[in-house]
Amino acid sequence: VSRVIPVETFDLVIFGGTGDLARRKILPGLFRRFRAGQMPPGSRIIGAARSEMDDDGYRQMIREAIAEFGGEEKKDSDGIESFVAQLRYVAIDATGEGGWAQLSKLMRGDVVRAFYFSVAPSLFGALAERLHAHGIADSESRIVVEKPFGRDLATARALNATLAEHFDEQQIYRIDHYLGKETVQNLMAVRFGNVLFEPLWNSHYIDHIQITVAETVGVTGRGAYYDKSGAMRDMVQNHLMQLLCLIAMEPPSTYDADTVRDEKLKVIRALQPVEPHHIVRGQYDASAQGPSYREDAENPRSFTESFLAMKCHIANWRWATVPFYLRTGKRLKARSSEIAVVFKDLGHTIFEGDTARHRNILSIRLQPNEGMDLQVTIKEPGPGGMRLVDVPLDMSFAEALGPDQEAPDAYERLIMDVIRGNQTLFMRGDEVEAAWAWTDPIIEGWEARNDVPKLYDAGSAGPEDAMMLLHREGRRWRDIK
Ligand code: BG6
Repeated sequence: VSRVIPVETFDLVIFGGTGDLARRKILPGLFRRFRAGQMPPGSRIIGAARSEMDDDGYRQMIREAIAEFGGEEKKDSDGIESFVAQLRYVAIDATGEGGWAQLSKLMRGDVVRAFYFSVAPSLFGALAERLHAHGIADSESRIVVEKPFGRDLATARALNATLAEHFDEQQIYRIDHYLGKETVQNLMAVRFGNVLFEPLWNSHYIDHIQITVAETVGVTGRGAYYDKSGAMRDMVQNHLMQLLCLIAMEPPSTYDADTVRDEKLKVIRALQPVEPHHIVRGQYDASAQGPSYREDAENPRSFTESFLAMKCHIANWRWATVPFYLRTGKRLKARSSEIAVVFKDLGHTIFEGDTARHRNILSIRLQPNEGMDLQVTIKEPGPGGMRLVDVPLDMSFAEALGPDQEAPDAYERLIMDVIRGNQTLFMRGDEVEAAWAWTDPIIEGWEARNDVPKLYDAGSAGPEDAMMLLHREGRRWRDIK
């Protein structure tokens, strides 16, 4: 039985349709949805970009992109011809008049209309204006925008204001692709679909929470962007912040876009400013595992951080006293993202001689090998009396649910949510602004102090100081493995 829920017929225009994101993620993702039977036959994807090209040229470009960046489809491109037949191309001048009349002629009135702004944010205003001037977008249309959504509060506000001139908030879909990840949504399922965890989900039972997003990739090839961003703007302000919100938010009364986003917003607003000594910035150095950040970023004087570890506090009734430790970095020893909820020690043990510290730890693995692991304490086997040992109750989602439950990639899911008109997994304007309002003073502090990141070896677990951040409080980071 197919579990695919069909969507309405649509016209999706991708501005920046020949760009990197379109070729790597958006179109291969749409092809997978097409193969899954989710893209209605009459739907069209219209690539729009500056280059002169005809429909056939674009189709060929996308065939090649899918062959290069697709997953399974590389080997088995069944259906590719019917898929590319649904593609069109319009050469368009975002800031001039070229191509707009042609685009307007292509669009149909009786289908869902969505516009993906896969272009520099400086073009958002020009695009929005022209979409309206040419009657291409109306009050039902949807627009999709990507990160980086600003580089601080002021620029994010300006972008929101520009979009608001032409579209209602209900029409704007701000992508954070972490929200489209299957396991990230599982955070909500685990918390709010079980009776077991929620009663313990507070400072009475939880000692601390760790969120780690470790990557093995460096910044080769994208230094120009990354060097101006750093881990704070690139990962923490958006992806880690979203994970933190889902872990920390109050139960929303319904799983509805604004109810969920209201709760997330409250978390961000309750986040306390971070003390400078609760943050460790790092930058990878050359090692046997690879070149230094400065080489990769082609900036020999860069002080940009490729690693961050920090201790955060959420000042509300549920979380007062519970530290949230966040950690993310490039060129670390393994690609591994995990959220670990570390429960408190037992207050009292009835087992004489058992002096070890036993803790329940719930860890949710986001990637790779998505799953959940609950550390529980049981009796060590054998006749030696009541000696206790901690063991994992380990579950891999793939094993538990079967291999053919192949989850759609984050982009596929999110694009289909746009067509369905479901904003739950998209960031609302006020959320993004609140996240920047928290991030800005931290970055300003570094700039004012000319903060120099600590070096760590490429392929390691990050700078020593990041370990100390927890050690000095009698805690330790989970292994990155
Ligand atoms: C992007 C960042 O948003 O997320 C990249 O710009 C990062 O620097 C990427 O590598 C990580 O995403 P994923 O899905 O590979 O965890």
